[in-house]
Amino acid sequence: PEMTSARSTSTPPAQESPLFNPFEDGFVENPYPQYAVLRETAPVYEHPLGFWVVARYEDVSALLRSGASVEVRNLAPATGPLAALQQQVFGERSPRMDGLSMLDRDPPDHTRLRRLVSKAFTPRSVEALRPRVTELVDTMLDKAAEQRGAVDFVSSFAFPLPFAVIAEMLGTPPTDHERVRELSGLIVRSLEPVLDPELMRAIDAADEELRGIVGEMIAWKRKNPADDLLTALIQAEEGGDVLDDEELVAQALLLYIAGHETTVNLLAGGMLALLREPGQWSLLKNKPELVPGAVEELLRYDSPVQQSRRITTEPVVVGGTEIPAGVFVLTLLASANRDERYWGEDAEELRVEREGARHHVSFGAGVHHCLGASLARLEAGIAFERLAVRFPGLALAGEVTWNGRINLRGPAELPVALAGG
Ligand code: HEM
Repeated sequence: PEMTSARSTSTPPAQESPLFNPFEDGFVENPYPQYAVLRETAPVYEHPLGFWVVARYEDVSALLRSGASVEVRNLAPATGPLAALQQQVFGERSPRMDGLSMLDRDPPDHTRLRRLVSKAFTPRSVEALRPRVTELVDTMLDKAAEQRGAVDFVSSFAFPLPFAVIAEMLGTPPTDHERVRELSGLIVRSLEPVLDPELMRAIDAADEELRGIVGEMIAWKRKNPADDLLTALIQAEEGGDVLDDEELVAQALLLYIAGHETTVNLLAGGMLALLREPGQWSLLKNKPELVPGAVEELLRYDSPVQQSRRITTEPVVVGGTEIPAGVFVLTLLASANRDERYWGEDAEELRVEREGARHHVSFGAGVHHCLGASLARLEAGIAFERLAVRFPGLALAGEVTWNGRINLRGPAELPVALAGG
């Protein structure tokens, strides 16, 4: 039987209404009420479909810092109807970058792979990109400002900015951006916890196509080496046994996708949050020096990556509950970021002047803590500063639509008027 049906049959079998049900109406627009119920009534929760869900800040943080695995081979084989689901989500044909990138590896492989590119992402290396990122931001905003009437903030700014930045860092040749965007948009759906078979096939096809495109980029780069990340990866591969061919493609693909599929949500989700709270936007307009702290609060308030996942290799006690070995655990980063036990009574409110907002878990924690965190902060800091200074009258100019994802969740379209009323 097909266990992984799409929205139409939204309730998983064997339970009337599970506490964690991402197919519930309205979840994509606003998952936070469900998270609040989980934190209150089932903070460490075994879902009827066999995976576990962790919702509170301290527990999420502890689990991510523990030695829990990211390698799918550590998943205990499911039995009964769950086996079909597991096969769908984790089966051999499942893409997830073939599990060869650093994101899907445990130490020591993780350490080896991360080290190869980590130098490019240190705060100091990233700071050196500031003039170029500022130039990109201003050029894109100039272009957007020329449009008359409402402008889609996502397609005119929130997507092109991080995409251009990661493409320049990698040193990719000119590409069909729209096609790459479509493909990576499909591939990141493999990070969703429940997938329907048709979507799964589309993801597989997209994965193969983008892998081909990245393979061609690498071939081109071998002939045109430069001072960029692709060249560094190629040299590591050519230099000996540090990186094999398939790992090279997997790393490049991970950086390419992670470089923009996340930051787009921070820029667009953050802009939306500010426009829905005009008082907070006013604070930034009047005091642009608040922007760096505001970026942390925007990361906390609406996590661009809502969940991460781990596989237990041994039984682990979290928040007083024992999670057995070999199970899949979803850590709800976005829920942790709204946990009133940690953040206090105003946890569900946007406050750009909040102290300590940077302790959010939006970039994860532990050894897999986001490699691109400094880069994302730089891009968002420049973006919101330039927006606040150049377009203080910026306003919503229509309804937001969502990208339909529950993990890399964010606006699909965000109509704004740059001049505003
Ligand atoms: C890992 C979030 C931007 C590259 C992660 C993780 C999170 C995350 C939550 C950890 C996943 C886990 O523990 O399972 C974000 C957010 C971003 C962002 C919210 C933007 C707002 C970027 C950018 C890059 C990047 C711009 C640049 C290439 C990576 C890489 C990893 C990672 C390579 C894997 C690190 C590892 O496994 O050691 N990110 N990310 N991210 N991120 Fe980001």
